[in-house]
Amino acid sequence: MNIKQASFVISNTNYKICPNDNKAEYAFIGRSNVGKSSLINALTNNKTLAKTSGTPGKTQLINHFIINKNWFLVDLPGYGYAKISKVLRAKFKKMISDYLLNRHNLICLFVLIDARHKLQDIDKYFMQWLAENEIPFSIIFTKIDKLNKNNLAKNIADFKNKMLREWELLPEIFITSSPQKSGLKEILKYIEKLNLKFNSNQ
Ligand code: GTP
Ligand code: MG
Repeated sequence: MNIKQASFVISNTNYKICPNDNKAEYAFIGRSNVGKSSLINALTNNKTLAKTSGTPGKTQLINHFIINKNWFLVDLPGYGYAKISKVLRAKFKKMISDYLLNRHNLICLFVLIDARHKLQDIDKYFMQWLAENEIPFSIIFTKIDKLNKNNLAKNIADFKNKMLREWELLPEIFITSSPQKSGLKEILKYIEKLNLKFNSNQ
């Protein structure tokens, strides 16, 4: 699938006023600075669609983008950002969990993981929470351009082994670099398949 058209729709703090939920939706989440907004820009081939930054904590709202007039990509704030107050962190947590638990057209949540790091507790617990709440998700490794092939293969194998200690089956996994634009076709193909399923059930 090609993305021919991508435009910003709205930013919200409340899932209740997100755009009409009759279209399939795919959201991106993960630790602050993992590359969520950059990946949305790479997928849509638009350098400025989602706001990116070298400093963590850039995305603070639920941002909807309409793609090919037909489905949504959603850029979410990151978790695990240390430099915010407890009150603000609790507010973010509620905003994101309300969105994830109540957005019925959310077909798949992409959980982004920095390929350079070992499986972190915060990601592990977050994915457990997703499973407990039956929120469908896939994993996307980011920033693979920062690793050589051997280290990348080792990190991903270690990550999968750790996951398999607690999970019977692994979710779909994608391996990407936004600047090198690698792994993007696979994600778009996956979305295309899920879109077909969504539309045939409508
Ligand atoms: P928050 O909105 O703050 O949670 O961050 P985010 O997850 O949206 O990250 P963002 O896309 O803003 O990227 C954070 C930094 O990582 C920026 O400096 C990006 O240029 C860089 N970055 C993102 N993806 C990649 C990647 O695949 N490779 C490399 N080398 N850098 C990346
Ligand atoms: Mg962001």
